Amino acid sequence: MIEVSDLWKIYNTNGSNVEALRGINLKVDQGQTLAIEGVSGSGKSTLLHLMGTLDHPSKGDIKYDGENVLNKSDTELAKFRNNKIGFVFQFHYLLAEFDALENVMMPALINGINKNQAQELALKVLDNVGLSDRVTHRPGELSGGEQQRVAIARSIVLKPRVIFADEPTGNLDRKTGSSIIDLFVKLSQEYKVSIIVVTHNSYVSSCFDKKINLLDGKIVYEN
Ligand SMILES: Nc1ncnc2c1ncn2[C@@H]1O[C@H](COP(=O)(O)OP(=O)(O)O)[C@@H](O)[C@H]1O
Ligand SMILES: [Mg+2]
Repeated sequence: MIEVSDLWKIYNTNGSNVEALRGINLKVDQGQTLAIEGVSGSGKSTLLHLMGTLDHPSKGDIKYDGENVLNKSDTELAKFRNNKIGFVFQFHYLLAEFDALENVMMPALINGINKNQAQELALKVLDNVGLSDRVTHRPGELSGGEQQRVAIARSIVLKPRVIFADEPTGNLDRKTGSSIIDLFVKLSQEYKVSIIVVTHNSYVSSCFDKKINLLDGKIVYEN
């Protein structure tokens, strides 16, 4: 479904170049789970941002279902992201003054779905992530793992084709992190959504379909 070829990203800061990605080739199938590992600074977040169409590469192609997304205008890309892509970050970025249900409803409401239907969609995904008894809790009344589950529910409420998660387990203890990994596997199967996760949780190796290791902007290991 997603095909990345010869992807380069060169940042220029104060006249000096940083080659953050140096010729990445990668394929991700529909419903596949992919873990991205690598030391800090190896290019993981850059790769995630480029694949998620949040930033432009210096060179190379990113295709979704054979279509080069780099040919889209900014407006088309924004629409494409809204409909096809979900994002989860290390810090969940939930809105503190809204409860879990309202946070998960938000993308649906922004997308023009009416309130009743948005609520119905949100309740279903909250149930899917195991939080049906926490819907009226605000983020401050939830544990770290529960907050991340709300963020995952929010990322999937519009049924995207792919979810990108940048160190979603980075703030969690190992066991809670592993349960988040389990949740991603379950969602990939239930929703046929591809899941691409940057994580240091060693448990991913045993349950994700595929793993790559980055070093200095290159894939140095792939299974
Ligand atoms: N916006 C930016 N401007 C300049 N350099 C950047 C920028 N973002 C990342 N880099 C550099 O690119 C390299 C890869 O960064 P990043 O993708 O964030 O790595 P990781 O997520 O694996 O820690 C690092 O050397 C980092 O300093
Ligand atoms: Mg990073």
